[in-house]
Amino acid sequence: MRVLGIETSCDETGVALYDSERGLLAHTLFSQVAMHAEFGGVVPELASRDHVRKLVPLIRKVFDMAEVPFGEVDGVVYTAGPGLIGALMVGASVARSLAWTWDVPALGVHHMEGHLLAPMLEDRPPRFPFVALLVSGGHTMLVDVQGVGQYRILGESLDDAAGEAFDKTAKMMGLPYPGGPMLSKLADQGKPGVFEFPRPMVDRPGMDFSFSGLKTAVRLKVAEHAVDETVPEEVMADIACGFQEAVIDTMVIKCRRALKETGHRALVIAGGVSANRRLREKLAAMAEERHCKLFYPRLEFCTDNGAMIAYAGCQRLLAGQRSDLGIEVRARWPL
Ligand code: KG4
Ligand code: ZN
Repeated sequence: MRVLGIETSCDETGVALYDSERGLLAHTLFSQVAMHAEFGGVVPELASRDHVRKLVPLIRKVFDMAEVPFGEVDGVVYTAGPGLIGALMVGASVARSLAWTWDVPALGVHHMEGHLLAPMLEDRPPRFPFVALLVSGGHTMLVDVQGVGQYRILGESLDDAAGEAFDKTAKMMGLPYPGGPMLSKLADQGKPGVFEFPRPMVDRPGMDFSFSGLKTAVRLKVAEHAVDETVPEEVMADIACGFQEAVIDTMVIKCRRALKETGHRALVIAGGVSANRRLREKLAAMAEERHCKLFYPRLEFCTDNGAMIAYAGCQRLLAGQRSDLGIEVRARWPL
């Protein structure tokens, strides 16, 4: 089965062709980061309009890249949520219209399921069952994954998502947009242990997270070290490092608990924050200690992309899932 996958839930227009026999045929992406940078964050209306401009040319391009005649697919799948409602509508409308004209099924995919299954696109994919840590700009979840569509939420963030905590803290520290990767870069130049921040909720049982208190702790630390309203670069790097270590240690502790509770021997990390080098390092060490294996997508498939949606949607279509003709999208949607 060959499917076209479309991702437009936020600020990336991602398109891919996936073949259940041959694997990923081609994928392409346009990031709106430069456009939103001017505003210090994603402007939903601008995001929708840019998806309108970019989506159809990218679809043509992906067929060319794969050397597949335009429209020769068995299905069209698209992100139906969660995400920005206007942005989702663009992808859903285009996907449904193409599926109608090509006379093939269309199916809406859960964005986080796309992230969760992204490591399946790698040469050595994880085998079910596994524990998945999903860490993006909008979600932080630990999931017991028994198979495609068989998900049990073990824990999630009670307030800010991990990526959101990175982004908000970065903004507060005056770092340029997009904050998360910038903060992590700065943290890599700092020294661990100079500033210790709390590891939220690790003293409580369970696998939920809470990150919103950390940004306040960072704000107070920045204010404490400001001289004439500026903080020396070196101190900023040490603060960033302390923050990153606190977020990562919390995630490592909860992942260890999840592996222990489920007895699974594989841990998957996915979503934008799984691009974080230090997180991968620390989780790999913990996994090794427990004789477990760590899996993650290649860097370009950690953040939003069309390939993960094409893969997840293809699995759903292969399982026989179909939907009616309505164009439905959801800003919020539990996994
Ligand atoms: O999965 P994604 O592209 O979009 C959502 O579904 O939200 O994730 C984006 C998030 C942003 O919050 C971004 O700051 C964060 O992932 N992120 C990082 C890194 N790269 C991206 N956070 C920490 N370290 C990174 N290297
Ligand atoms: Zn995402």
